[in-house]
Amino acid sequence: MKTYLVTGGLGFIGSNFIRHILDKREEITVINVDKITYAANPGNIPNGVKNYRFYKTDIADNVGLSKVFDENDVDYVINFAAESHVDRSIMTPGIFIKTNVDGTANLLELSLKHNVKRFLQISTDEVYGSLGSTGKFSETTPLAPRSPYSASKAAADMLVMSFFHTYDMPVLISRCSNNYGPYQFPEKLIPLAIINALHEKDIPLYGDGRNVRDWIYVADHVAGISLILEKGKPGETYNIGGDSELENIDIINHILDRLNGSHSLIKYVKDRPGHDRRYAMDFSKIASKMGFSPKYGIDKGIEYTVNWYLKNENWWKEILSGDYREYYKKMYEYR
Ligand code: NAD
Ligand code: DAU
Repeated sequence: MKTYLVTGGLGFIGSNFIRHILDKREEITVINVDKITYAANPGNIPNGVKNYRFYKTDIADNVGLSKVFDENDVDYVINFAAESHVDRSIMTPGIFIKTNVDGTANLLELSLKHNVKRFLQISTDEVYGSLGSTGKFSETTPLAPRSPYSASKAAADMLVMSFFHTYDMPVLISRCSNNYGPYQFPEKLIPLAIINALHEKDIPLYGDGRNVRDWIYVADHVAGISLILEKGKPGETYNIGGDSELENIDIINHILDRLNGSHSLIKYVKDRPGHDRRYAMDFSKIASKMGFSPKYGIDKGIEYTVNWYLKNENWWKEILSGDYREYYKKMYEYR
């Protein structure tokens, strides 16, 4: 048996990762540490699953996190826990520094103390900054983050690497592009567009709507993470991408077509400050060294995602009835 300590496992990608592991890998026990912020949903992990233990703990809380390490023999740490939404980082940067930087530092220190065999930091393409109309980010692209969110993730990446060089700790970093799929919190573009279209409500599109993201279906990201955990070399960074570059306007049109929604719902609104223009990932390293390739193209991925939101209304309706309403008003009312 092996024990994975997964942080942020009640959020979007972390819960997709945990369900995948518990489903496919009976030899692995998962310890899930999550603070349960607005972005978490305890229902994302089914009740009564085997080989699973949950701790409601903040990764920045040294006492709380020490207890988790003391009570479990942890082999691998996979750090998903983060404040993850760029727009929120513009409104309230402090909590991003607290969780993404201080929290990662705390997790690193305890992982070192407890001699974990692998520490995987789940990072993002946003640490590389913004591209013009050509070129791609590779693992050697210098870090040039431009939002409080991406700056906090870049700081965390640097701390992670410092533990490799200073303490010879077996750390790895994965940097992935924009994920979409089941269980994504509705503040992010794709679920927001699906849910607004279903309600025949305006879909806010920032600026000229032509910013480009490289979209990856979450199952492909999870598959890449599993490969890195098994085959990655300590001290190395691996890019993961979806090979699906699209302008925001195209992704919204695609969703509206699938739902037979009216394109008049698209509403151009004031741009996000410091809005990164384009992301594109060169993921040839993980492709050549580990055989990674994304299995879901954008058509299949969007089809599965739209169907999931259609079938799981209870999941997102509960979110819409809570604090999210206040957030939405603050973010979009006067935009
Ligand atoms: P999410 O916002 O859906 O989930 C984050 C989870 O972390 C939530 O369950 C939340 O409760 C938990 N959390 C937040 N602060 C915490 C703390 N202090 N202690 C413990 N738990 C805490 O995020 P996501 O989209 O699933 O992203 C997961 C990770 O993947 C993040 O590190 C993010 O930077 C990275 N990432 C995301 C994307 C993407 O497109 N969503 C792409 C690349 C990388
Ligand atoms: O690239 C990886 C990153 O992708 C992750 O590290 C982040 O955690 C994740 O939130 C995501 O960041 P983005 O800012 O790219 O995702 P978001 O869904 O917020 O926005 C996608 C694009 O859509 C971006 O160009 C902004 C635009 N947008 C977004 C929203 C929420 C709109 O035009 N309207 C909107 O209402």
